[in-house]
This record gives sequence, structure tokens and C-alpha cells, in this order.
Amino acid sequence: MSKLKASAIAPSNIAFSKYWGKIDDELTLPLNDSISMTLDTIFTHTTVEFGPQYAKNEVWLSDSKTKATLAKDQKQARVLQQLKRLRRLAGVKDFAKVVSHNNFPTGAGIASSASGFSALTAACLAALNIQVDKKQQSILTRLAGSGSATRSVYGGFVKWHQGKNSESSYAEQLYDQDHWDLANIILVTESAAKKHSSLIGHARSKSSPFMVARLKAVLQHNQDLETALKSKDFQLLGQVIEQEMFSLHAVTMTSQPPILYWNGTTVEILHEVRKLRDQGLESYATLDAGPNVHLITESSNIKKLQKHFSDFVGVKQIFVCKVGKGVKITKQHLF
Ligand code: PMV
Repeated sequence: MSKLKASAIAPSNIAFSKYWGKIDDELTLPLNDSISMTLDTIFTHTTVEFGPQYAKNEVWLSDSKTKATLAKDQKQARVLQQLKRLRRLAGVKDFAKVVSHNNFPTGAGIASSASGFSALTAACLAALNIQVDKKQQSILTRLAGSGSATRSVYGGFVKWHQGKNSESSYAEQLYDQDHWDLANIILVTESAAKKHSSLIGHARSKSSPFMVARLKAVLQHNQDLETALKSKDFQLLGQVIEQEMFSLHAVTMTSQPPILYWNGTTVEILHEVRKLRDQGLESYATLDAGPNVHLITESSNIKKLQKHFSDFVGVKQIFVCKVGKGVKITKQHLF
């Protein structure tokens, strides 16, 4: 029997309209559709090997700041669940060793769960020789518990359909990576792991009195985003991206108990982005469940924005991403 081992590299993505809150926790069914852009330089590389030599599952995680350590707690629990789900599907009983590396700081609002669970699922499917199409892969990825990972299956601009049940909640590509030369400049204001995971935020979202209004608004936001993507209307795209970000954070700040993901630098940057727009340098800000600001801009503005923010007080690191391709299987194994 051939070795049950494979590696995958998966990109992170940045949501233009946000997934926040679930109808079904177990199936990771979201409360709304979401639309994202896949990133080209921020990724997770994961190798999975199943075999009788492993007496139990081992999950090794590392990132750009930390050496590989054995995973524990909630994160490991979700990885173990996914291994079990896919092992069952393949009829394999062996345990696995998982070695996963993020080329960016984990858990700081750079959507490490998106690239992580997308890479894990793709590597498991390849190692176990489970053949599925991309739609099914996005569904299986979603079941790992990180909804945003379902969008990282594809490159370019991606929509995750909310769906009414597991089979109808999947991602699809709206446009590939060559459609529009956009960029995401990530201004890292905090690289330590955040206090409140998105898991906690999703669970608390329904306690916000603003959630009902958000769910109504996001329907229009998604329509406008699709219009903006189709016609490459950058101003419309940017305006909706910011409305979405403020809507998500209005919900987190009014959840019970509230979650304030921003720090002082986050707010300073939000003001600066407005100031720069008034001066003709156009970018729009979005944030996931964390304090790091993602500037969405046209690629022609990258150099000016990067230079401007390189000595901005409180910005610790800058990542520049363009539109990337989706998850892929690699030949290179991490172990
Ligand atoms: O995929 P999760 O469970 O880590 O949640 C992601 C939530 C946001 O990043 C805030 C929004 C999104 O759609 O990516």
C-alpha cells in the first residue's frame, strides 16, 4: 500500500463582507453569505501522514514567530475532529501526524484559521486519496469549524453561499485572480494571539441588539459587492467594505459581554486612511476579529501606502498581498 502522506499549501483570504454568527454550530452554517478576496503571500503549508506508526494523533504548529510545538486545547480539538471525519470517509483507521506552518503570526486577525483548515483538509483528502470536486471540498473544509476556510479553497474573488443545510452551504469562485489587480496591505498593530477568538465572537453575536440590522444590511452589501466586482467600481467596492467592517465591529462592541478588538493604533489608522483618501490616495480599511488593519487598494497604490505606513507609530509589521490562487497540493513535505 502506498504511503498515506500529502502536503498542501493554502492561502488566507480577506472578507469584503463578513461571516459573523452561525445558524448551526456543529455544521458551521453561517447567518449570511460572505464574499472574499484570496491572498497570494499569506499561507499555511501542512503535511499530513496517516500510518500505524502513530499511536495517537500528533499536531505540530508553528508560525513566522514561533517554533513547532504540539497543539493543545480548542484548536487541536477541531483538527482532531477533522482527521476523524475524513479518516472515516476513507475507511482508514490509522492515526496521523500533522505538521503545519503559517508564514505569518497566528491568531492575530490575519485569518490563520482560513488558511490552516483549508490546508489541513486538502492535505488529508490527498493523503487519504479521497477524490472530490471543489464544491465538495469547500463543504468538507467548512465542516472543520472555520467558516472562512471554505472560501480559501478557491483563488480570486469568492462567495460562500449561506445555504440552508450542509450540502447547500458551499463556496464558489466569482472571478479568478486575474480579474482585478487589487491588493491587501496588512498593517499589523498586534502580533500576539488575541484574547477573544472568532469562535467566541460568533457565539456572542446574537446577543447584540444590532445583529438584526446587520443581517438586513449585509444582503444589500453582498449585492453591491457583486456589482462592484463585476464593473470594477473601486469606490463602490471600498465603501461597502468599510460599511461591512463597521457593521461587524458594531456587533462585537454591543454583544453581551462586549468584545473590543481594536487598539489605539487601529483607530489612528482608520483616521489616517480617511485623510489619505481626501488627499487622493485611495484605500479602504477592513478588519477581521482582531486589531490589524487590512487596507484594500488598487495595486498601483501599493508603494505609496507601504511607504506612508512604514514609519507610522504602532505599526509593527506590514504584509503586502495581491489576489492569490486557491489551495493546492504540493510535492514538498514538511517532515
Ligand atoms: O472562520 P472563522 O470562524 O475564524 O471566522 C472568521 C470571521 C471573520 O474573519 C471576522 C470574518 C470572515 O468572514 O472571514
